[in-house]
Amino acid sequence: MPYNPTQLDTWKILTAHKKEHDAIHMRDLFKADPDRAQTFSASASGIDLDYSKNRINVHTMAHLMALAREAKLPEAIEGMFRGDIINRSEGRAVLHTALRNRSQRLISVEGEDITATVNATLDKMKGFAEQVQSGKFAGYTGKKLRTIVNIGIGGSFLGPKVVSDALKPYWQDGYDLKYIANIDGTDVTEVCKDLDPETTLFIVASKSFSTLETLKNAEAARAWFFEQGGKPDQVKHHFVAVSTNIKAATEFGIDEANLFPMWDWVGGRYSLWSAIGLAQALVLGFDTFEQLLSGAHAMDEHFRTTGFEHNLPVILGMLGVWYHNFFDAESHAVLSYDEYLKDLPNHLQQVDMESNGKAVTHDGSPVSWQTGPVIWGGTGTNGQHAYHQLLHQGTRLIPADFIMPLQSHNPVADHHQWLFANFLGQQQALLEGKTEAEVRAELSAKGLSETDIDELAPHKVIPGNRPSNTLTFEKGTPEVIGALIALYEHKVFVQGVIWGVNSFDQWGVELGKLLGNSVFEALSSGATEGYDSSTAQLIARFRDANGLSQS
Ligand code: F6P
Repeated sequence: MPYNPTQLDTWKILTAHKKEHDAIHMRDLFKADPDRAQTFSASASGIDLDYSKNRINVHTMAHLMALAREAKLPEAIEGMFRGDIINRSEGRAVLHTALRNRSQRLISVEGEDITATVNATLDKMKGFAEQVQSGKFAGYTGKKLRTIVNIGIGGSFLGPKVVSDALKPYWQDGYDLKYIANIDGTDVTEVCKDLDPETTLFIVASKSFSTLETLKNAEAARAWFFEQGGKPDQVKHHFVAVSTNIKAATEFGIDEANLFPMWDWVGGRYSLWSAIGLAQALVLGFDTFEQLLSGAHAMDEHFRTTGFEHNLPVILGMLGVWYHNFFDAESHAVLSYDEYLKDLPNHLQQVDMESNGKAVTHDGSPVSWQTGPVIWGGTGTNGQHAYHQLLHQGTRLIPADFIMPLQSHNPVADHHQWLFANFLGQQQALLEGKTEAEVRAELSAKGLSETDIDELAPHKVIPGNRPSNTLTFEKGTPEVIGALIALYEHKVFVQGVIWGVNSFDQWGVELGKLLGNSVFEALSSGATEGYDSSTAQLIARFRDANGLSQS
């Protein structure tokens, strides 16, 4: 029998439980239980989660945890950490946790002790960071390399970017870090504009070293380097790479000694902990990079060893299942009240949507239940003046995570207090809303006539009963940021297990890449036979606009 979570006993229990729960407003749940916030709170690795503002009671959580057990989540967690081939469509183990295995547990893949392999790469990264810092590895004129440019896309960009932004207060003096990701020539042009060729180090970060955007941008950066006076034999002083593809990287001109390995058992979107994090290790310093790994490891250990009732990734994952599968919620908002975490939603979009955007189970059977949600979000308070309206009064139920450090790295007057006030105020409004009686009393106190009140009241009623999680931590330290990112990785894993999908392949991305290649040919040749009339018309327009139709 193919796996089908909707046939599990606990799923059926939850379906019935949801019907009972429909009429209950969270406002009443809080009134009825003064200890609700304490009951529904848990902490790990410096992160406190208050999930009391969810449409749950103790029975809901018990049923959700029973579902996790019935779906064999405990076995799945063990299997991932042990290195089982859980990415079955690609025949690979999934061991990003081994990259931050600070307690040095023995992990082997096909008989190879990968803890030793990981440690050797970390040593190489550390040595390289020291050489760049001391000037032993310098630019072609002997100057110290001080501007690091990471060329990569997807997991070779988004995760690293979140880390370097989040840890900006920890950057070493004198360093700058930039990113080139997009194939849009504007990206490489704008970044290169301000670079000094003598002091710039490009890191070509590409697991495959075959990703179109990264290769084209690396070629453009190398062309820029030559335009500035660099010579082919000097490329090795200014370009290093992180890749599994040694041949392609060395053919590009990178010295094999400056090539940092990657492995098939690390997915791109889970790779920031590997040498893909080299740029961060350089800018932050290796010790800080290790603290990031330690924070993630602490979350791994929490996930691996803590009972589900207190397990942060399991709680968040199962709450997501509750809303996506039983309330038909289609999306999930990530709202960081921390300017340093402004790119967290972008990274989590890839982690979550590339992982669980799947419609067949491991054995290829189509699913008849919803899988990965749309992940979106941004920073507060900016979002409050944009999309929060839809959260408060729109027709859709959108569960949201509110994330904020209790202390600011940049205390300015009473800004942080205002930020926290808004952080709580928004969640309170989502929970409480405003009843018609409250609205009418308010308008009447303002002296409005009954007719005016009748007209205005429906617009001012806010339903409330909209769920949110509150994630707080003392300060955005490297350990906490590591733990936070790992928390979301594991949340995605939990949901993938319940939905029965392979969270670690991404075949859907491949089709777009292939079709892009053939359109590129048609743009050059003008041969549009076989294309739909819309694509053919647009190809012709592009050729006209760029003088290609004359050639
Ligand atoms: O978007 C598809 C993808 O394969 C991602 O999974 C990956 O992070 C990204 O492309 C970049 O791949 P690479 O590191 O091989 O250049």
